[in-house]
Amino acid sequence: MRARWEIGSEFDWSELVLLQSTSHELLPNRYELFSTGTAALLSLSNVIQKTQTERLRLHVPSFYCMEVVAKLERVFDICWYQDLPTESRPNFSSLNPSSGDLVLAVNTFGIREAKVWQDWLVQQNDIILIEDHSHDPFSLWAQQSIAHYAMASLRKTLPIPDGAIIWSPRAMQLPTASSSESLGAYKRLTAMLLKKAYLSGINISKDVYRRLDVESQVELGNETHCAISTFTSTILSHLNIAKFRQQREANIRQFIDLIPATVSGWMPLFTSWSAGAVPFNIIIVCKDREMRDALRNYSIEHQIFPAIHWQQPKKQISSNDILAIELSKRILTIPADQRYTSDDIEQMMETLLGFSKSPQARKLNCVKPTNDSAKNYEIAEDS
Ligand SMILES: Cc1ncc(COP(=O)(O)O)c(C=O)c1O
Repeated sequence: MRARWEIGSEFDWSELVLLQSTSHELLPNRYELFSTGTAALLSLSNVIQKTQTERLRLHVPSFYCMEVVAKLERVFDICWYQDLPTESRPNFSSLNPSSGDLVLAVNTFGIREAKVWQDWLVQQNDIILIEDHSHDPFSLWAQQSIAHYAMASLRKTLPIPDGAIIWSPRAMQLPTASSSESLGAYKRLTAMLLKKAYLSGINISKDVYRRLDVESQVELGNETHCAISTFTSTILSHLNIAKFRQQREANIRQFIDLIPATVSGWMPLFTSWSAGAVPFNIIIVCKDREMRDALRNYSIEHQIFPAIHWQQPKKQISSNDILAIELSKRILTIPADQRYTSDDIEQMMETLLGFSKSPQARKLNCVKPTNDSAKNYEIAEDS
């Protein structure tokens, strides 16, 4: 029972999420686990590397996590191609890999179609396709992947302190973790336990678990080839993943259905998705950066903690894709995962709608979006 209401930020730990028996139903037949998604991607260079001296080229989408790219850059030569979540497919004319190159296809926000990449892949010769399913690790696309490699950072959608999975739909050699578990995972687990206590009303300082959480993220972020923690590898097959997916999808559907036609200043990035897919979270696109930042601050004041996917430039890394950079200034991710109920979603909507009546919003001169497609967003009228 939660005595303190808040939405988002990092997962807390709850034994309520566990299955009595183990279930491997949604996991691939053969896979390897790592502490982080970045470690899984970096370790690929060990099994694909052509020679000791020659660096592999990795093509990454222009709308992606720049912090991850900053780490991948240590091992791979990075090339960018344009891929915007406002479009249904990457701009394939900007993707021109040479023989032996690696291409990272990302199911951004879990709403992308498998067919787009599968059609592209059959026209290619001698490239290695790696799919990143971190935003929906157990989608139909992930399960039916025909890529050379597929991976997912599991800690983005599951309530575990660390963890990433990599598999090869084409039965290629899998990388393995080459260093022991990270202490960062256990620090994060401590933060999750303390957060659980905090949410249940225990009088502990939020600063304590927040600090542990931030430190653990830095420690996990510094690991390059680390094994998954014993805690996570043991608990993974006891998580009721199917139920989590159901709840997440229902929450996102409910939120989208609740959006009134008169909402001003922001709109959902998407309103539908294909069967077998579960979107990552509620993704909204605001009129401009000022509006996004004001809405975010207002939400935080009301105990909703949205994230930004993904700021760029960050860590001095940028795709230099003007459209990706522009979108990254207006986008906001509102958590809608299995932690939340239908009542929570209603309360979230009430809060977001309350923003338009707030002094902050009036100052920003909110306007009404013209239709339900974020890419066609226009300033229609003053509110
Ligand atoms: C889509 C996506 N893929 C991969 C990663 C890397 O995962 P990890 O943080 O576990 O290294 C991230 C991290 O932000 C991500 O957002």
